[in-house]
Amino acid sequence: LVEAPKEDKRSLPSAKKILPGTSSKPVKISEITQEKETRISSGFAELDNVLGGGIVPASLILVGGDPGIGKSTLLLQTAKNVAAAGHKVLYISGEESLSQIKLRADRVGDFSDDIRFLCETSLDVISEVLKEEKPEMDVPAAPGSISQVRESTHVLLGLAKGLGITIFIVGHVTKEGTVAGPRMLEHMVDTVLYFEGDHQDTYRVIRGVKNRFGATDEIGVFEMRGSGLHEVKNPSEHLTEGRAAGSPGSVITCVMEGTRPVLLEVQALVARTHYPNPRRTAVGVDFNRVNLLAAVLEKRLGLRLSECDVYINIAGGMRLSEPSIDLAIIMAMISSYTDKPLPERLVVFGEVGLTGEIRSVTQDRKRIAEAEKLGYEMCVMPKTNAEKLKNVSGIRLIGVSSLREVKGIVSESD
Ligand code: TYD
Ligand code: MG
Repeated sequence: LVEAPKEDKRSLPSAKKILPGTSSKPVKISEITQEKETRISSGFAELDNVLGGGIVPASLILVGGDPGIGKSTLLLQTAKNVAAAGHKVLYISGEESLSQIKLRADRVGDFSDDIRFLCETSLDVISEVLKEEKPEMDVPAAPGSISQVRESTHVLLGLAKGLGITIFIVGHVTKEGTVAGPRMLEHMVDTVLYFEGDHQDTYRVIRGVKNRFGATDEIGVFEMRGSGLHEVKNPSEHLTEGRAAGSPGSVITCVMEGTRPVLLEVQALVARTHYPNPRRTAVGVDFNRVNLLAAVLEKRLGLRLSECDVYINIAGGMRLSEPSIDLAIIMAMISSYTDKPLPERLVVFGEVGLTGEIRSVTQDRKRIAEAEKLGYEMCVMPKTNAEKLKNVSGIRLIGVSSLREVKGIVSESD
């Protein structure tokens, strides 16, 4: 079997150095010696976890996210922490002046002399400086147009591998949610991280969407304060606080973010429409999924949702794609439609199929344990999951297999 390389590395000057032990002689598996990789801590356990256990030396990491979400702040603080651990760091900015950087730096604390700052947009100059300074970590300018981005990423990749420098690049996210210069950029770098969150809210989530050195889909949670970003060690607690308990349309669910269970609030507002075409919006979940679930509710339970506007929101600015949130969306819609609040200490998870069947989800034990830890007393979940967990949980488990049973639970509660 000959596996073709995923990308063409021939054009890179330092391609030989990229792959340690690259030779033209085939070897047996037993002859391959694993180089023990040493990772550098970012100073944030939350970020290290997303990176798969810290920063891999000589890697190229792309950080994307909306403007103003906190990318520069995160990287400045990471640069500060890495420098404080005695590593040589260079922070290059193309969009901000030194005095702007200083203003931000003053908010986040004291900096060691192991970190230097530079304002520069010319890639040639940046290359020269990197060759001369040979820092261990570099945070360069936000790139410009798509072709420029591709070109500069290419050059930076060569520098990272050739000089053994870890380079973080900041990318702008386009409306479609991909970093400017979408796919071709993502495949060139080792790691892609997205920074997301609700601008009105202080919570920020960093998510790994690609990682050559670890699992993807892990998240790290931060809070933006007056003194920069601070780690949030117990996201479930934070994402569910400030919830208007006792309000119709509010449901707590538990999603798996990588290996970590997170509790959060799903909100629905279902109201009679005044428009010829009812409004539907979904923030934090897939719009088409919400439409589909609304159609299932209409068909299976006779809820007249085609006469209603439906708004769905995930509190805290999280973006979810796991099917296990279906049941929470459904219950939130029923609760808002019937104007009946759900019990305060209730958690809900499960996937919903087109015929109204409730399908089982993975990692049920972890989800339940998280709910129990946070003091929840009741859980509505797929019957198959509930039967499996019967004797292991201190929480009251209510197994459901159809939408009809789900509706019964909402109408009984008060
Ligand atoms: P920034 O890191 O500049 O965002 P990005 O690089 O993604 O565009 O963060 C900008 C926002 O963060 C801005 O609205 C100010 C706020 N902020 C704080 O609330 N506290 C702080 O300590 C800092 C440095 C910024
Ligand atoms: Mg910035």
